[in-house]
Amino acid sequence: MDWLRKLLHPHACPARTSSLDVRQARHVATLHHLGGFARGWDPGECAALLADASVVTDGVFAGSSAVPSGFVMSRKAADEAEILSIVVKPDQRGSGLGRALLGAHLGQLAARGVTQVFLEVEDGNAAADRLYRHFGFREVGRRKGYYPKPDGSKATAVTMRLDLA
Ligand SMILES: CC(C)(COP(=O)(O)OP(=O)(O)OC[C@H]1O[C@@H](n2cnc3c(N)ncnc32)[C@H](O)[C@@H]1OP(=O)(O)O)[C@@H](O)C(=O)NCCC(=O)NCCS
Repeated sequence: MDWLRKLLHPHACPARTSSLDVRQARHVATLHHLGGFARGWDPGECAALLADASVVTDGVFAGSSAVPSGFVMSRKAADEAEILSIVVKPDQRGSGLGRALLGAHLGQLAARGVTQVFLEVEDGNAAADRLYRHFGFREVGRRKGYYPKPDGSKATAVTMRLDLA
């Protein structure tokens, strides 16, 4: 996967990544909560997703910690996948963990035969937009009024796509 190796800088954060399973449901629920999304995932919902054979989940670990500092989860259908969520702990953002995590995850998806990856991100989420564009995701559509905001307003969702093949 030369395209992926080129994107991960030689000085990229040397964080460990590995796939997560149902035993990490509690950690995934906690991390998802820290993502600041309008709708939380409870541990039961996370456990169901982690146990779902069509769902691929990876975690990133800082230092020697056994507790993930971030996770990313995608649902695969045939040769397409949709990223359902990606979160890095707030106090560890901006140090390359998200890039290490998404790079490893895209490699996992490609190894499973995925050729197109889709996602939705809130318009104006600068960190996520930059992370996705780093790997070559491009905007393919917009849904106005898609995300409910705590103040009662609604934000636009930007749909992005990456061709892995
Ligand atoms: C999006 C998120 C996972 C990125 O994780 P991270 O560990 O901070 O990412 P990295 O440190 O690897 O940085 C990735 C890129 O984003 C950029 N970035 C990081 N924080 C940024 C910020 N606050 N504003 C603008 N760009 C930022 C980095 O410079 C880097 O860009 P580059 O690849 O062009 O150099 C993290 O910010 C997060 O958990 N956000 C809350 C949940 C969320 O919004 N998830 C996305 C939902 S679709």
